Amino acid sequence: MRWVVTGAAGFIGSHLSEALLAAGHDVVGVDAFTDYYDVALKEENARGLDVRRLDLAVDDLELDGVDGVFHLGGQPGVRSFGDVFDVYARNNLVASRRVFEAAARAGVRVVFASSSSIYGDAERYPTAEDVEPRPISPYGITKLGCEHLARAYAQGFGLDVVVLRFFTFYGPRQRPDMAFARIVDALARDTSFELYGDGLQSRAFTYVADGVEAIVTAMERGRGGETYNVGGGSEATMRDAIATLEDVSGRSLDLVQRPAAKGDVRRTAPDTARVERDLGWRATTSLPGGLKAQWDWAANRVAAR
Ligand code: UGA
Repeated sequence: MRWVVTGAAGFIGSHLSEALLAAGHDVVGVDAFTDYYDVALKEENARGLDVRRLDLAVDDLELDGVDGVFHLGGQPGVRSFGDVFDVYARNNLVASRRVFEAAARAGVRVVFASSSSIYGDAERYPTAEDVEPRPISPYGITKLGCEHLARAYAQGFGLDVVVLRFFTFYGPRQRPDMAFARIVDALARDTSFELYGDGLQSRAFTYVADGVEAIVTAMERGRGGETYNVGGGSEATMRDAIATLEDVSGRSLDLVQRPAAKGDVRRTAPDTARVERDLGWRATTSLPGGLKAQWDWAANRVAAR
């Protein structure tokens, strides 16, 4: 099969592309290589992949001969207040609408990467997909807007779309603005880590290889028009996760306490009944196991420099 992966030079997109290639598929990667974080890291992620530079907000996505689109490209990061909203609106809403329209026209399935952040401080935990979404970050609002656009294109133009809500993916190549990437970097280079808030906020941290399995399975057998939580396995507070990382690295973290960040939710925890039932998927990597892999990756890179 021949798949398009948008955001193929990103953290999750590069892992997904490698998994598809390893399974014998053709992968056409596209990425805008925006400077949200160091472009050199994206170029490193994309090594060994065929990734074309494309800005989906203006460039057309060519889908002749393609079997489906994994739409992971976009503007990430929940701490998204301020004038950067223009960038979130453009790279998420404007770009995704164009991807949905192109896929509807070509008659190919889209698996869309949405986010746990659309729940905000959720009404219920664990949170099922039909809970009322109440995002508290501009980023989450654009992701929810994308979900609605996907449904509008499904309704109006027959788009075959499966929406996945990712819960804080981590592992090797994690985006450098995310907590674990900063922590392993601080541990490896003996610098400090700024902890936002009291550290008792918790997340359903999801190991990237587990998440990639769910993404591929959603393309193969997700129900058209359905929305699935992709997360779980290991809910932990930031304090728990830091303790585990200190343990796996054998080092102690220099922690600097900062005020809580606006847009951050207190807790995420998915109800995974639907994804387990329809996709036969559940996260299997333990937090210590996944953090060990991320630590080893980061420590090797720092040592090689
Ligand atoms: C992550 C991703 O960054 C989003 O793109 C994604 O949409 C979201 O997961 C999701 O679940 O869908 P987040 O949960 O905020 O967002 O993940 P981290 O950036 O790893 O932050 C985890 C916690 O660590 C947050 O409470 C954050 O405030 C805290 N943190 C982060 C710090 O204390 N210091 C930092 O330097 C960075």
